[in-house]
Parts: sequence; structure tokens; C-alpha cells
Amino acid sequence: MPKIGCYTLPNPVILAPMAGVTDLPFRRLCRRLGAGLVVGEMVASNPALRHTRKSQLRLDHRDEPEPIAVQIVGGDPHMLAESARFNVANGAQIIDINMGCPAKKVCNKAAGSALLRDEKLVNEILLRVVESVDVPVTLKIRTGWDTDNRNGPRIAELAQKAGIASLAVHGRTRACRYQNTVEYDTIKTIKQYVDIPVFANGDITSAEKAADVMAYTGADGVLIGRAAQGRPWIFREIVHYLNTGKQLTAPPSAEIEAILLEHLQALYDFYGELMGVRIARKHVSWYLQEQPDHLAFRHYFNGLQSPQEQSQAIHTFFKDSFNSKEHAA
Ligand SMILES: Cc1cc2nc3c(=O)[nH]c(=O)nc-3n(C[C@H](O)[C@H](O)[C@H](O)COP(=O)(O)O)c2cc1C
Repeated sequence: MPKIGCYTLPNPVILAPMAGVTDLPFRRLCRRLGAGLVVGEMVASNPALRHTRKSQLRLDHRDEPEPIAVQIVGGDPHMLAESARFNVANGAQIIDINMGCPAKKVCNKAAGSALLRDEKLVNEILLRVVESVDVPVTLKIRTGWDTDNRNGPRIAELAQKAGIASLAVHGRTRACRYQNTVEYDTIKTIKQYVDIPVFANGDITSAEKAADVMAYTGADGVLIGRAAQGRPWIFREIVHYLNTGKQLTAPPSAEIEAILLEHLQALYDFYGELMGVRIARKHVSWYLQEQPDHLAFRHYFNGLQSPQEQSQAIHTFFKDSFNSKEHAA
């Protein structure tokens, strides 16, 4: 199993960091359903932003299964090093540096994947952060700045030299954002450049695809992002397939209902009722996107204002869809 510094992961399937998605309730759920490691939403390195409600929620690691991985984002080596120290003092056991995010807000301040253009600055950041903490430091990158500047392999070498413990590679350049097909070839090249564990990322949506990508790239594991939205059991499916070569049967609708209700309750508990009810809406639409009649239900669900109404609506939705399937059978 892949090792990240002193931590041996129970399996090679990791939840990718996603701002607005991989909050504490979702991380706990994904761990329970099989993820070998989960990475939280990026945390701004600027200490001036630390006291906002958003940052406070991102800094909360109550009952979080170990090792706790925190991703930091920013463009200033000293601020990032200080942020790493702060987060370790706050419970982080792995620090991940974000050089993979193309979001404008971040890139305007030359952070995230915008850093890939400046290898000297990348090196300075890696060295400062690694020397500032005693825990493993990992790095998440894209394959390069744009398709003419795929410097991912060089960045990977810099990372290894600087003491980075593992590398996650989203197989697109910064310029490609979320378009273009994922370049598993470049991930394969990067894996050949370094000895540290490399995790492949991008468009992995099924257990077979995870196994194929690992076999093709030689990667030590995979990061799953959007495919886990509304489908947190994808982790146990991938792990089962990697271990046995066999597909795990899809969860029955009673289990999906139970997982969704557990997720909603965790959102209400974590964010409070007002914010929890709002955040629940996008998760519910992801969970139900494959179900017939989901659009009409989504419209209705988004008008509900309390946890009780939301939970009751989910219960009724599953009961009705179960009854109509029984009826059709
Ligand atoms: C809503 C959303 C938020 C994201 N936030 C982050 C982030 O905070 N840090 C980061 O490194 N990548 C972030 N990403 C990128 C993902 O970690 C991942 O690299 C990307 O989605 C590709 O993987 P996938 O095809 O499995 O989704 C985000 C992606 C999405 C869709």
C-alpha cells in the first residue's frame, strides 16, 4: 500500500480536495465508505482570512479519521510555511500544497496552478514548507502550465528533491481547465521521473477505470473528485475491484437513502440548520441525478426550508420510487 511519509494508507484510493464539497461531513462519510485518505477543502494561507466563518469551518477537524490531510493554497513561500505550521498545530498530520487549482480567484494572486509557470518560486515554496513542519508535505499539480509548457515532470523532480512525500497529478494543464481529455501519458512520464508515490487524478469515474489508469500510468493510487459527489460509496467499489477484480453490487436504494439521510444530518449538525439546509441542496441533486423524476423533485426540494421537511421529502422520494419499481416489476 502507498506510504505518505510515516503513514501507510489502508488502500490507494483518495478523495481529491474540492472546495465547497470536501467539508468535514463529506470527508467522514467518504472515509467510512472506504476512502484510504481524504483531503479537505483548500485553506487560504493568508492569516488575515483565518478568522472568517468559512476558514473556521475548514479548520475544524473534530472526529476526523487520521491521518488528517489539510491542503494549503497561496503564492508566498513564507506565508505558506507559516500556514503549514499553523495547520499542524491545529491537528493536520499531512500538509498538501495546492498547485493544481485553476480557479480565477486563486490564480489572480498567482497561487494554485498559476505557480507552475514560475519554477523558481515553486522550488522556494516547496523548500520553505517542507522545512517548516515535521509532518509529511505532499503536492498537487497539473501536468503543466499549458499544452506548450508541460513542465509537470520537472516540477515532480523539484518536489522530490525538496522532500515532498507524494505527488498528486491532475492530468490536464492549467490552460485546459476541465476541458480536453486527461493526459494519462504525462502522468505515466511523471511517475517515471520520481520515486515518491504518485497519485493519478482526472475523470476517474468507475472501479475499472481506476484499475486501468493505475495499470497504464504505473501510479501508486488514484484521487477521485467529482465522481464521489453524490456517490461516496465509489471508494469501496474501487477498493473491492482492485482487491478482487470483481465488481461490487451497487448499493440498494434503502442503503442510498440511509447514507443520504446520514449525510444531511451531518450537514445540519456541522453548519447549523440554516446553512446546512442550503448546502444539502446540491448534495441531494448529485445523489439523485441518476433517478427518474429527479428534476421535478429537485425543484420541489430546493424550496424546502427546514431539516425536517428535507429529510421527510427524501424519505418519501425513496418510498415512492421503490413502490413504483415494485409496481413495474
Ligand atoms: C467543485 C470543485 C472544487 C475543487 N477544489 C479544489 C481544491 O480546493 N484544491 C485542489 O487542489 N483541487 C480542487 N479541485 C480539483 C479536484 O481536486 C480534481 O483535481 C479535479 O476535479 C479532477 O478530478 P476529477 O475528474 O476526479 O473530478 C476542485 C474541483 C472541483 C470540481
